[in-house]
Amino acid sequence: KIPLIIDTDPGIDDAMMLTFAFANEEAFDIRLVTTCAGNIPQEKTNYNARTLLSYIGANVEIARGLEQPIFRELEVAEDIHGESGFGDVEFPAPTLPVSERPAVTAMLETILASEEKVTIVATGPLTNVAALLFAHPEVKPKIERISWMGGAAVGGNMSAVAEFNAYVDPHAVDLVFRSGIPVIMSGLDVTHKAFVTPEEAKVILSYGTEFAKKSYRLLTYYLNVMKKTPFDEENYDQVLRFHDVCAVMYLLRPDIFEGQDCYVEAVLDGPASGATVVDYQNKTGKTPNVHVLHSVNREVFVGEFIKAVRIVSDR
Ligand code: BDR
Ligand code: CA
Repeated sequence: KIPLIIDTDPGIDDAMMLTFAFANEEAFDIRLVTTCAGNIPQEKTNYNARTLLSYIGANVEIARGLEQPIFRELEVAEDIHGESGFGDVEFPAPTLPVSERPAVTAMLETILASEEKVTIVATGPLTNVAALLFAHPEVKPKIERISWMGGAAVGGNMSAVAEFNAYVDPHAVDLVFRSGIPVIMSGLDVTHKAFVTPEEAKVILSYGTEFAKKSYRLLTYYLNVMKKTPFDEENYDQVLRFHDVCAVMYLLRPDIFEGQDCYVEAVLDGPASGATVVDYQNKTGKTPNVHVLHSVNREVFVGEFIKAVRIVSDR
């Protein structure tokens, strides 16, 4: 099993990512979930992680992360995920408590207590992960890799060039990219190829359970706020972009992704702030620091995802 810490800002696609991760517990040993401020403020991401994970019967520590990006004021994405972060879908009040340990302490202690190296999955701004590495560099040798959804080699969704998670806290990205820890970047380049069509999503409804109904409603809300971009490959009018699921899917099924080791640097200021500059052709001559994913087998991706929702629905 892969020992895992998940840092997330749920958020609709984060909810799908958590569902996917916890459906695959025979592959993942999920030791800790931490929440970051991103799609919505910390208060709400933490609450949402706890409600969703309580609802699906997960048994895991959920720790509260930092409230603000390192230097920036927090910018949220309520236009996509709704004011609550879960569109118009409500889950019962959580039974899982907020951990007594703050996220950075919980990460530190979890990693140091582990006999094997731990993998970090991060699907929001990298504030918590950067704070951990900055404050406690001694954990670095015990981190196997960081699988992050964020960044983009070509074309942003927050600005012309910056992807949301990178845009919100570019200084955190910079710190993580310079850390020397292997980083896998599932940026928009690959996540735009990892979409689910509305027809495919309908399969979920046929499962008939309350969880399936709620999932489908989350997806319908998400679909209605999606805008088509010039970077969408296929000729669908509307598709569901499952950005965050990619970061976990890669750990389960690396065989369905293609990527390249590249030198990548985050832009910290100016009009391109939050861009991740990917040196595909090694023009800089610098040593690659990030494995940049660019393609995925969409059919297998969708199949694995739908299977995961089924597993959780049947519980
Ligand atoms: C990322 O931004 C957030 O809105 C999503 O949850 C995802 O992590 C995509 O750019
Ligand atoms: Ca996210």
